[in-house]
Amino acid sequence: MKILIIGNGYVGNRCKNAWGEEAIIADGHINSKEDILALLDKHKPDAVLNAAGSTGKPNVDWCETHQLETIVGNTKLPIILAEGCQEKGIYLLHMGSGCIFYGDSPHADKKWRESDMGNPTEVTYSRTKWAADLVLSTLDNVGIARIRMPIDWVPATRNLIDKITTYPKVIDVENSVTVLDDMIDVFYKLMEKKASGIFHVTNPGTLKHRETIALYEELVDPSHTNEWISGEDLVKQGLATKTRSNNFLASENLEKVGIQMRDVHVAIRDTMEKYAKVKKDGLNKIEGEVSMVC
Ligand SMILES: NC(=O)c1ccc[n+]([C@@H]2O[C@H](COP(=O)([O-])OP(=O)(O)OC[C@H]3O[C@@H](n4cnc5c(N)ncnc54)[C@H](OP(=O)(O)O)[C@@H]3O)[C@@H](O)[C@H]2O)c1
Repeated sequence: MKILIIGNGYVGNRCKNAWGEEAIIADGHINSKEDILALLDKHKPDAVLNAAGSTGKPNVDWCETHQLETIVGNTKLPIILAEGCQEKGIYLLHMGSGCIFYGDSPHADKKWRESDMGNPTEVTYSRTKWAADLVLSTLDNVGIARIRMPIDWVPATRNLIDKITTYPKVIDVENSVTVLDDMIDVFYKLMEKKASGIFHVTNPGTLKHRETIALYEELVDPSHTNEWISGEDLVKQGLATKTRSNNFLASENLEKVGIQMRDVHVAIRDTMEKYAKVKKDGLNKIEGEVSMVC
């Protein structure tokens, strides 16, 4: 399969590294339908992965003061990509976010379904991601893959392990999360199947930050310490401008197309073991071993 990746950032590069010569990351920024049509003519991909977006640096609070850039990156760009891909009949897998849901769903099990409406009232990043999902989900030959809180064995500032183990104060919450090894596999399968619709690409089960940190202390650094605070304290104590989305997602549509992810507790232990190895021996050694088993 020939995959064109849009977005030379964290997830785009992680996917490119996993897929090797089957994938290429597009150069530069895409600002118009003509830009994406030219890339499709040049690379003639079987599928396009949109891993681009305005995610904010150092974090999504940036989006609160850069609303237009955020709308262009998260809502306008996906629509431009969809226009070009539809015109050429090429499958588009757009990366959405589970952060369009705040709190518990109205269902008895509290989990949000793919068919549920997002409820991002305040947060600019979440509103722009939901706006793209809302319109792109009307199209055939377009898949929307929502991920949450990426967890990986490769250390990175966007990796949830690195994030919560470097914060002195961590919120005591429980969430649906995405282990990147599993996500990469799911993205590939969705593109192979050209699966249309919305997919919650989160590992079955939920994970507390306390569990992730306990595993980190067991396998990586027994001397690690942090203070625990509540979700509300994050804003009250001035550590974030806007409240963060915490939620549980049900992943019904992946099941319908015959794709499974590992249970979150199995996947996090495996990932933390690899992460510990990388911290101890360096990335090159583990990369060789992992590419042999994948
Ligand atoms: N990481 C997460 O925690 C997370 C969670 C849920 C969903 N997601 C979604 O997953 C996707 C990838 O996230 P990420 O963490 O990899 O973000 P990232 O590291 O910020 O990468 C996004 C990339 O998109 C590029 N970009 C922005 N506008 C573009 C345009 N018009 N044309 C081409 N490239 C453009 C950015 O380039 P510049 O830096 O040059 O602007 C950047 O390299 C995003 O859609 C994000 O919303 C991420």
